[in-house]
Amino acid sequence: MSDASDILELLRWHLDIGCDEAIGDEPADWTAFTARAPSRPAPVAPPAAALPPQRTARPTAPGRPAASGTPPMGNPLPGMPGVQPMPNASQPLGASEAGISARARAREAGSLAELEAAVRAFDGCPLKATAMNTVFADGNPKARIMLIGEAPGEDEDRQGKPFVGVSGKLLDRMLAQIGLDRDSVYITNILPWRPPGNRSPTPAEIAACLPFLERHVELIGPAVLVPLGGTSAKTLLNRAEGITRLRGQWFDFQAPGLPGAVPVLPMLHPAYLLRNPLAKREAWRDLLLLKQRISQE
Ligand code: URA
Repeated sequence: MSDASDILELLRWHLDIGCDEAIGDEPADWTAFTARAPSRPAPVAPPAAALPPQRTARPTAPGRPAASGTPPMGNPLPGMPGVQPMPNASQPLGASEAGISARARAREAGSLAELEAAVRAFDGCPLKATAMNTVFADGNPKARIMLIGEAPGEDEDRQGKPFVGVSGKLLDRMLAQIGLDRDSVYITNILPWRPPGNRSPTPAEIAACLPFLERHVELIGPAVLVPLGGTSAKTLLNRAEGITRLRGQWFDFQAPGLPGAVPVLPMLHPAYLLRNPLAKREAWRDLLLLKQRISQE
């Protein structure tokens, strides 16, 4: 920690991952409270170069402040068949350590291949230990549309590709309605590893992997970003509202490595549409908005 701006960056990083309140004089090592994780020394402050830049994602419509309040990092679950080995599984990185390490690794990636290698080598998210595969991306890296789902499900985890299960089949049909397919879009997820039992990702898991996603967007440089579902939309836009409020509106996404703001159109997740077929009306409207936008480019 060399000067005041480094300290400000570190505080901003804590806010970004939801630590917005001091509740004790001493920092608590949450990983020490698990049966599997023995206590470990307090994390050493990272070098300034490893600290995150400020991510900005502004709505093009008036909005509300972003969500805050992040619970402690989830504990690693007991091993499952086919899990990938994770050298430090008994001592997962703390949330901020993981985010900082991911940030530094993501920044170093100068190509998609390097980013994928960095994601595969990353041990800062406990989900890697219970997943069968790392699910990086599918589709055309030169596509103008980048779709971002939440996390792999069972089929995706087995095959190592995003959106290959039932909701993926519906996604393919939705895209086909506006003349798109896997060769004309690029698809990834907020998380590259399946949460056990398809549970929702925790804020700490998202924070740990977010730097890779941001770098992913920078390297693809899409003309339009489409977060699918609430988790993806809220994460990408750093907003608190649910997807039924966010969908159908255009927002801006900005990141330091992008030449300018990228328009973002949040849409309902295909899995939600399978459970709520009546909502396909809204999804159809959003698809038309997307079609209109890309035909103007
Ligand atoms: N749901 C997602 O959000 N992503 C996938 O890859 C599959 C299902």
